[in-house]
Formats: sequence, C-alpha cells, structure tokens
Amino acid sequence: MDPKYSKDIYGDKDAYYMGCPEIVSIHLAERLSEFESAIELCCGAGMICVQLAKKIDEVTGVDIRERRVNNARKNAKLYRVSENTKFLIGDATDEELLKKLSAEVVVLEPDWSSVGSKKDDHVSNIKSTQPRSDRLFKLTKRYITENIIFRAPKTFSKETLRELGTCEIENVHWNDELKFKIAYYFPELEETTEKDIHFDPKGLLEE
Ligand SMILES: C[S@@+](CC[C@H](N)C(=O)[O-])C[C@H]1O[C@@H](n2cnc3c(N)ncnc32)[C@H](O)[C@@H]1O
Repeated sequence: MDPKYSKDIYGDKDAYYMGCPEIVSIHLAERLSEFESAIELCCGAGMICVQLAKKIDEVTGVDIRERRVNNARKNAKLYRVSENTKFLIGDATDEELLKKLSAEVVVLEPDWSSVGSKKDDHVSNIKSTQPRSDRLFKLTKRYITENIIFRAPKTFSKETLRELGTCEIENVHWNDELKFKIAYYFPELEETTEKDIHFDPKGLLEE
C-alpha cells in the first residue's frame, strides 16, 4: 500500500505519482468546508475529490482520460463517497462543458510534468502546464466561479502565482522537503501571502 493513502487505491502508476497525498487533501477539504459545492478540473484518480466529498455536499471531478475517470469512480466507492460525487470525462478547457457546470469553488490540478522529461522535472511557468493554467483560470472565472484553488509545482514562484491573481500560498513540505504549493484565490483577498506548512504520513505537523 502506498503511504500516501490509507487505502489501496485504484489508479495507474502515474495517477499514484501525481496524486495529492491524502493528508494534504484532508487539510484542503477542511479549509474548503464552508462551501456547499466543488469541482475539480483535471481530477485524475480523484484523490482530492474523495476528501472534498467528506466535507462538501456536491463534488464533481473532470478528467480527459477515461481510465482515470473510471478509477476515480471506483475510489469514490472505496472511500464511501459515491453518493455525493460525480465524475465526467471531458476536456477542462471545453467551453461548452464548462458552461454546464456550476459550483462555489473550483480546484485546478493541471499536469506539471515537462513533456518528454523526467517526471520530477516540473515546468516553471503558467503557460507550460497541461492544460495551460492561465487558460484554465480565465475559463473557470468566466463560467464557474472566482473562488479558485490551484495545486502548483514548487517551481512556481510567488510572483508567478500572483500573475493569476491575489492569492494565499501554502508551501507544502512533506517529510521536511518542499513538495508543491497550494494557492487559494478568493476575490476578497487584499494581498498575496505565503507560508510554509509541514506534513508527514501521520498528519499536519505545524504551520
Ligand atoms: C496532477 S493530475 C491530477 C491528480 C489528482 N488531483 C489526484 O490527486 O489524484 C493531472 C490530470 O490532468 C489531466 N488532464 C490533462 N489535460 C487535461 C484536460 N485538457 N482536461 C482535463 N483533464 C486533463 C490528466 O489526465 C491528469 O489525470
């Protein structure tokens, strides 16, 4: 069993590798628990969605790869959240699809790997994720909501994340190593801030 998750999840190797560690998804779900509906664009095997669904009434995941969406449905069953989750196969930049979706908050999880490079070689600008983060942002704001959460690679600087709007950045350390960042974009934020948070497989250690 992968220590990232408390259960033997459904997913290919890439889904494991890309997936958000469970304890970080639990933290994210707690932070977003005031919302009643959420969408995750580029949800992969659904490891964030299954935790959001424990705190939020209606959760929808969208991914372009059918196999991942099927695994996300199985993971929802495994985590006993099938009743309030829905998974759709689709392109997160398809405007016709986005027009039909509604939610109070959207989590964006584009792929950060540099194409043709080693998996841990991450892109460092908003135009190089798959799909492009700036496009995802623009479309999400236009069709769904301005409350946007972006899980970004550690290669994205504060200035890069600020290009997408004013945000609150969490630098997520796992076993004392900076792993990735979570940026929270809420319209009411007045300035961009940044802080470190530390996890290990047992949970949130300190902020
Ligand atoms: C970082 S992974 C998501 C991991 C997931 N949040 C988890 O914790 O399990 C990125 C996902 O983006 C998906 N993806 C890439 N391009 C996409 C697009 N245009 N529309 C929807 N999904 C896309 C990939 O199939 C991949 O599953």
